[in-house]
Amino acid sequence: MSDFVDRFTNTVAPVIAFDNNVEIVKAQGARLTDRSGKTYLDFGAGISVTNCGHNHPQIVEAVHRQVDRLWHGGGTFRFDAYVSAAEKLVSVAPAPIDMFFFMSSGAEAVEAAVKLARHTTGRQGVVVFRGGFHGRTMGAVSYTTSTVKYRTGYHPLLPSVFVTPFPHPFRQGLTEEEATSRALDEFQQMLRHVVAPEDIACFLIEPVQGEGGYYPAPLRFLRELREMADRYGILLIADEIQTGFGRTGEWWAVDHYGVEPDILTLGKAIANGLPLSAVGASRDLFGKWPPGSHGSTYGGNAVACAAAVQVVDVISGLVPQVPALGEHAMSQLRKINDSHPTVGDVRGLGLMIAIELTDDEGQPDSGALEFVRKHVLEAGLIFHPCGPAHNIVRFIPPLVVTVAELDEAVGMIDDALTAWEASH
Ligand SMILES: Cc1ncc(COP(=O)(O)O)c(C=O)c1O
Repeated sequence: MSDFVDRFTNTVAPVIAFDNNVEIVKAQGARLTDRSGKTYLDFGAGISVTNCGHNHPQIVEAVHRQVDRLWHGGGTFRFDAYVSAAEKLVSVAPAPIDMFFFMSSGAEAVEAAVKLARHTTGRQGVVVFRGGFHGRTMGAVSYTTSTVKYRTGYHPLLPSVFVTPFPHPFRQGLTEEEATSRALDEFQQMLRHVVAPEDIACFLIEPVQGEGGYYPAPLRFLRELREMADRYGILLIADEIQTGFGRTGEWWAVDHYGVEPDILTLGKAIANGLPLSAVGASRDLFGKWPPGSHGSTYGGNAVACAAAVQVVDVISGLVPQVPALGEHAMSQLRKINDSHPTVGDVRGLGLMIAIELTDDEGQPDSGALEFVRKHVLEAGLIFHPCGPAHNIVRFIPPLVVTVAELDEAVGMIDDALTAWEASH
C-alpha cells in the first residue's frame, strides 16, 4: 500500500469508506487528475454533487469574492448571499414552493422537512418507501431503507415510521404497471391494518430512488400518492437531494410527473460541492411554523450561498441539453445491454442512469460489479455503485459532460464487461 493510503489507514476511522485508493490532486469539468498525473473521467460527480463540473470558473470566482468579504452569519445578522440564494431557488422552484431556508447537509434538510410536516399537521406518522435513501443521522436513517446496512446496530430508530413498497419492476420481475398496482395495493393494506391516514403527517419520497437502485417512480404511482395526500390532508415531501438541479433532464424530477410537492428537500448539487442544503415550502405552510423553532449554526454559510447563486445560473444553461445527452448515453448503454449477458437492465432519467449487473440466473452480481469497477478505474473511469446488492453502476457524469466523454466512458465499461465475460 502507498504511504498515502497508509496515512488514511492509521488515522481515519474505517467507518468512513472510500471506493478506491486513488489520490486526486486536482479536477476540472468531468476530469480528475491523480498525483502521478494520470487522468480519470469522473462519472460519480461526488454522487450528483458536482453537476456543474469541477472548478466551474463562474462559481469559483463568486466563491473567491465571498471568501474575501464575509464567511459566516449563523443567525446573528442578515447578509446578501443568503437571501440571494433563496431568491434564485424560488425563481426555479416547482409550484407551490415559494420560500426556502438553508441547512448544511441532506440529512439535516430531510429531518427539518419532517419536523415541519409534524409541527404543522399536528400528526406524527411518516410514510417512507422501501429502497429510499434519506440520510444517515438518527432521524434520517429511520426513513432510510435503501439497504439494511445503514440501520443495523442502531435500533430503536424513530417510532411511527411506516415503510411501504416502492415499485421496482426489474427486481420484482414485473411490468411497471404490475409493480405499481402491487405497491399501491400494499399501501392500501397498510392504511387498513397498520396506520390510519389521519395519523400520517407526510409521505417522504425520492421521485427517482437513488442509493436504492436508480428506480424512477412510475407516473401513476406518484400521481396516486399526490391524490391520497390531498384526500387525507397529508403533506408530500419530495426528496430531490440527488435528483434535483437538472440531473434528470428537468430542473426537478417532479417536473416529469406534473406532481406538486408540499415540501422540497435539496442538497448535494446546490452549491456544487460546498456544504449546503435547503428546505422549500409554500409561504402558507411556512407561516404555520413558529419562528425560531428550528435552526442550525452553519446552515446557510455565506460562501456556500454565494456558490448556490451561481449554480442556479449555470444549471439553467445546462438543463436544456441534458435530455439529449441522457438519450445518447441511454442508446449507447442499451447496445451494451443487448451485447452483454451480464447487463440485466439499463434504466433512468436524463443523466441519472443505472446499469444493473446480473449473473446467469438473473440474480444481482456484485462480483461482476467489483470487477468492472477495478477494470475501468485502471482504464481511467471512476463511478460509484448503488443498490442493496451492490451490483449497479451509477452512471452520473457532471452535466457539462460531452458526447465524446460519454462515449469514452461507455467504451471503458464495454471493455470491462467483455473482460469479465471472457474470464467466466
Ligand atoms: C435522496 C437523498 N436524500 C438525502 C441524502 C442525505 O444527504 P447527506 O449525505 O448530505 O446527509 C442523500 C445523500 O446521498 C440522498 O441521495
